[in-house]
Amino acid sequence: MQTQAQARAEILAQVRRYCDTYHAPSAYTPGARIEYAKRVYDGDEMTALVDVALDFVLTADRYAAQFEADLAAYLGVRHCLLVNSGSSANLLAFSALTSPLLGDAAVRPGDEVLTVAASFPTTIAPIVQFGAVPVFVDVTLPQYNIDVAQLETAYSPRMKAVFLAHTLGNPFNIAAVKAFCAAHKLWLIEDNCDALGAEYTLDGTTARTGTFGDIGTSSFYPPHHMTTGEGGAVYTNHDQLAQILRSLRDWGRGCVCPAGQDDLCGARFDGQFGTLPPGYDHKYVYTHLGYNLKATEMQAAIGCAQLKKLPDFIAQRRANFALLHERLMPLQDFLILPVATENAQPSWFGYPITCRAPISRNALVRALEAQDIQTRMLFSGNIVRHPCFAALSPDAYRIVGDLTNSDRVTESTFWVGVSPALTPPHLAAMADAIVRAIGGGGCNA
Ligand SMILES: Cc1ncc(COP(=O)(O)O)c(C=O)c1O
Repeated sequence: MQTQAQARAEILAQVRRYCDTYHAPSAYTPGARIEYAKRVYDGDEMTALVDVALDFVLTADRYAAQFEADLAAYLGVRHCLLVNSGSSANLLAFSALTSPLLGDAAVRPGDEVLTVAASFPTTIAPIVQFGAVPVFVDVTLPQYNIDVAQLETAYSPRMKAVFLAHTLGNPFNIAAVKAFCAAHKLWLIEDNCDALGAEYTLDGTTARTGTFGDIGTSSFYPPHHMTTGEGGAVYTNHDQLAQILRSLRDWGRGCVCPAGQDDLCGARFDGQFGTLPPGYDHKYVYTHLGYNLKATEMQAAIGCAQLKKLPDFIAQRRANFALLHERLMPLQDFLILPVATENAQPSWFGYPITCRAPISRNALVRALEAQDIQTRMLFSGNIVRHPCFAALSPDAYRIVGDLTNSDRVTESTFWVGVSPALTPPHLAAMADAIVRAIGGGGCNA
């Protein structure tokens, strides 16, 4: 009779064979659709997922603890918490700054939060939803990040925080933004959802993006640098923020025992909180009005396997970016090609392109999509021009300057993929299609 361990090993070996046989990546065949990104995985991820299924442990457990520890070590931060998406990570990160535990430093409704207009919606949404005021600054091209020359103009005494993404894996000018935050005592959240593994050198020290500010966020949605399906993470070196993040993620409670564990502190029934009766079970004492944003054990199991491959994924993204760049260099009279921020080593999420007149972005994108090459907008472009802003009162946000480049992004920018699922033949086909579309003259406005 087989032992349980033997039965598990046999199942996992079969799963690995199944994955190798039926999920092997296929080589590029000319004319096949080229997606901008895809999950890249093998038997490691599939067996990890089935391993969890065999335990039938559904909520965060040993894999979640492992993934949090491994990701913290990879980033070089003290605390990392898994959540159920990058948008949840942004919501949680921003909400943490509003905690009453932060006293006068907490962000309150009506306080201002500096960000950029050419952005992703869920970097902005938590600010507006809380009743704080996003202050929109323009971006520079071809970095697609905050124009730091506008920082001081944008400042007002109501400002409490800065919340910025490293656009498409290209870090923003961390030196200038950190100096601005230090000068005015502002919190800094780095939306690192599109930049996992990017590096920046500040004062001679190189570190990973997401770790320079007070809180960093990640997304593990499939097109990202690594995936858990839905999923995300928040990370910080700040012990109090870590405690607040955990509380807000886990229903707002004060107790730090993981779900399913009780009385790790040994004083579960010994406290006195608010006007609650003495000894009220600390597991049910709420420090915050929180959420449940936790990830599952299945996501974490996949994440553990993906994280081991992350350095290779990032190297492949950089190589793919370089290959596309080389092929598109001759088109610089027609297209603005991306440039890495000074002192940064990007971890590219995509290859952004801005069309110069007379090339029409819409015409070029249509020409590429017609040839089965998937394209993407640079997220919202100027977010203020979206229908969701129409319902807001004019004092719900503030605009600095005229957002010329954000509008240009909205009208003339798109991006194509550099995912590790793309091989040199895919990239050559993409570049050739762009060259053909422009050379043919059919993309002129
Ligand atoms: C910059 C940025 N922030 C946040 C998110 C949200 O991540 P998720 O899709 O996991 O909610 C994304 C998604 O791609 C993003 O690009």
